[in-house]
Amino acid sequence: MNHPFYIANKKVLITGASSGIGRAMAIACSEMGATVYFTGRNAVALADTRNRMQGEGHQLIVSDSTSKYDLEQLTAGLPELDGIVCNAGVNRRMLTQYLKEQDMDMILNTNLKAPMQLMKHLLKAKKVQSGASVVFVSSIAAHHSSIGDGVYSASKGGLSSFAKVLALELASKKIRVNTIQPGMVRSGLTENSPLTEEDYAKDEQRYPLGRYGKPEDVANAAIFLLADASQWITGIDLIVDGGISII
Ligand SMILES: NC(=O)c1ccc[n+]([C@@H]2O[C@H](COP(=O)([O-])OP(=O)(O)OC[C@H]3O[C@@H](n4cnc5c(N)ncnc54)[C@H](OP(=O)(O)O)[C@@H]3O)[C@@H](O)[C@H]2O)c1
Repeated sequence: MNHPFYIANKKVLITGASSGIGRAMAIACSEMGATVYFTGRNAVALADTRNRMQGEGHQLIVSDSTSKYDLEQLTAGLPELDGIVCNAGVNRRMLTQYLKEQDMDMILNTNLKAPMQLMKHLLKAKKVQSGASVVFVSSIAAHHSSIGDGVYSASKGGLSSFAKVLALELASKKIRVNTIQPGMVRSGLTENSPLTEEDYAKDEQRYPLGRYGKPEDVANAAIFLLADASQWITGIDLIVDGGISII
């Protein structure tokens, strides 16, 4: 069926699909008829994602997005893509004075350098179709500050800036590049935080729409950006945050 909000028959790569937002995206894209190539490091968790997906032809790829070898293997094995969602990400909240260099490297390499490297390799290997849509999962942390999030915020701010330049570079090929900036979604990422359940409950009450996001809220935004319905949208940060950044 040819409907602007459908992504049926599109080939979509999603990184970091073994949990949280990436898993919800892989499930949602499969439900919308796309063929999904999905990555992460945890093979068991990826298999769990696969079990929740619909349809045939999807490909589970165990791949560390910070490994050069894995990146080359991944690129070589992929078909020409209609959609790319760079979602894999990590955080480690820490006051600046206690930051360790290895934490900085881990966050910046995973959240910022890996998506840049992935796009470089996919473009060089001509794996990005004309008319494709690239979606980077940034964060409202790019512009909405919270204590202890310095490196994470910098990585996401950098990702949003990178996306705009890439959007300009690829516009002549009708390849669109956008980011999604989610607000708080409870996931593996937030479980690594020093915040208590009490802290989260108090924080959640601040959200104008009354709750934190669900992974599916972000997945639905990704489907919109992957679909032809958004074909005149490029270079934007789509904020999906229950209204928290307007207060
Ligand atoms: N949750 C939030 O409140 C929130 C808000 C704004 C933005 N985000 C962003 O949303 C994205 C998804 O996060 P999430 O909340 O869904 O967290 P999550 O549940 O912890 O998921 C993170 C995903 O990234 C993958 N990943 C991490 N390092 C990787 C690496 N080196 N190679 C390959 N995959 C890697 C993990 O897979 P493996 O462990 O299997 O490798 C996992 O599938 C991240 O970019 C995050 O920054 C989250």
